[in-house]
Amino acid sequence: MPNNEDEILIFEDSEKLSEFIYREKNKGKKIGFTPTMGALHDGHFSLIRRSLAENDVSICSIFVNPTQFNVPSDLVKYPRTIEKDIKGLRDEGCPVVFIPSSEDIYPNGSDYKVEVDLKGLDEMMEGKKRPGHFEGVVQVVKRLLEITSCDHLYMGQKDYQQFTIIKEMIKDLEMPVKLVVCPILRDEDGLAKSSRNTRLTESHRRKAPIIFRVLTQAKDWLSEGRAPVEISMKATEYLNIQDFKPEYFDLIDGHTLEKVRNTDHHALIVACTAVWAGTVRLIDNMILKGEL
Ligand code: PAJ
Repeated sequence: MPNNEDEILIFEDSEKLSEFIYREKNKGKKIGFTPTMGALHDGHFSLIRRSLAENDVSICSIFVNPTQFNVPSDLVKYPRTIEKDIKGLRDEGCPVVFIPSSEDIYPNGSDYKVEVDLKGLDEMMEGKKRPGHFEGVVQVVKRLLEITSCDHLYMGQKDYQQFTIIKEMIKDLEMPVKLVVCPILRDEDGLAKSSRNTRLTESHRRKAPIIFRVLTQAKDWLSEGRAPVEISMKATEYLNIQDFKPEYFDLIDGHTLEKVRNTDHHALIVACTAVWAGTVRLIDNMILKGEL
């Protein structure tokens, strides 16, 4: 297994990767897998570090999945920094990277639906604002799990609804993989790391930590016993500063993603928000009550 800085196995062909993994699993090795769309930053690397610590073989995939972009221009605009990504992965000591083509991921075309009961988890928040987005995420993650047959799948809490949906898919399809959810990595001023942050203007970047501050404020408000609806309203008001436009700020049940009305009825409460900073859409969340 390559494990020094100079060695990283790059697979572009899913069959070759599957064969490699099959051999490793036959030797009794545990496989950890982190799917990404590239433009890697420290948030991604925190997942990979966790995978490296908990598995014998860690794999990172880089694939800008066309089926999860509901706005075609977003797919075109998505940052692609493949050489830098490979270097970053090599520096982290990630031994295997998978960089497939669209034809390899979707050999029969991408126009099919994964038969899975998501129990409505894809209908609110991001699902409402980005129609078709989660169908695309489910398609690609299912296919990647089949190719990698990993023991552990690493995803970030940053995309709360995304990991909740994937957790449900794994359960519904009885897939033999354990999902590991990793905490949100933030810049020092609280802004959640994201590939989109590089698109913020200097002035918007300076203002963006307001999202973290309002989430923290929401947590305090909830512990003071304020009502969830009131917290949502107040938070939205606070986020409505010049050039910023909050799209939603919802207090949801951390399992069902349904809006919380009575705090006492829920063991896990999460505040999820999407905010436009100029032309850049930022999402973030914070657990206000309970644990994942
Ligand atoms: P991408 O946006 O590249 O993110 C890959 C993984 O990194 C996701 O699980 C995401 O939640 C996690 N991540 C991003 N920023 C993070 C941060 N600041 N802290 C912790 N984790 C963070 O999410 C996708 O790609 C795609 O939808 C994918 C799952 C790969 C399917 O195409």
